[in-house]
Amino acid sequence: MTGAATGPMIRTIDLTKNYQVGPETVHALAGLSVDIEEGEFVAVMGPSGSGKSTFMNLLGCLDTPTSGHYELAGERVSEQTTDQLAKTRNRKIGFVFQQFNLLPRVSALDNVALPLMYGRVPRVERHRLAREALKAVGLGDRMGYHPQQLSGGQQQRVAIARALVSQPAMVLADEPTGALDTRTGIEIMALFQTLNKQGITLVIITHEAEVAKYAERHILFRDGQLISDERVADQGDAAADLAALHTRQEAAQ
Ligand SMILES: Nc1ncnc2c1ncn2[C@@H]1O[C@H](COP(=O)(O)OP(=O)(O)O)[C@@H](O)[C@H]1O
Ligand SMILES: [Mg+2]
Repeated sequence: MTGAATGPMIRTIDLTKNYQVGPETVHALAGLSVDIEEGEFVAVMGPSGSGKSTFMNLLGCLDTPTSGHYELAGERVSEQTTDQLAKTRNRKIGFVFQQFNLLPRVSALDNVALPLMYGRVPRVERHRLAREALKAVGLGDRMGYHPQQLSGGQQQRVAIARALVSQPAMVLADEPTGALDTRTGIEIMALFQTLNKQGITLVIITHEAEVAKYAERHILFRDGQLISDERVADQGDAAADLAALHTRQEAAQ
């Protein structure tokens, strides 16, 4: 992991983001101060329009704040230029999206290898790393498949492998189970829990309590403000829940 020896993985200090819509200023993020440590598994929750995606875009270096500071692994990100931000993003952050965002016309292997194209990794090495990442998400036997030949859950696994392939400091996921049925959603959460146990820092956005219960910390937004920040007392075990679901289905047949 690339976290600094001291200090949190993420530190935001009075971070704000305003959008100007005609004469109106929308305070999408209204002065957020939060620390996230290396190795944490955080769920960002809140109703639609509460600022979750805005927060994610700032954490992911996809956007710049109106004011305030953001430090990622000891680096002051909020003062970086667009070029520097792009480098930080490629080196330190893996992204997972609701709609998977895979390239439709290329194999799972090439989708996963794609982020390494920007990092001057030789082709043979790119494919070796992509194979490893696909094995890590349980898709060692689907490397040559194109996205439309895979189920939704498998496509999301490919996207997770792509997020992991450059060994980022953290993975950000915006509604990663939003396009999946309940059971497949739990499967993805089981994978996230496995990755988190291996030390990966995870920040996922969700508005579903059934998904958030597998994280270890809940950050709740309303109207661009953090209204609660709690360690989860009874974190769910997604693998155990899947096994129980399986047993119930067998009994029902
Ligand atoms: N590009 C934009 N331009 C104007 N307003 C925006 C833009 N993006 C988000 N907003 C507004 O900022 C607020 C927070 O949005 P968002 O972060 O997408 O919330 P969430 O992800 O929790 O649904 C909302 O009021 C939304 O309408
Ligand atoms: Mg959103």
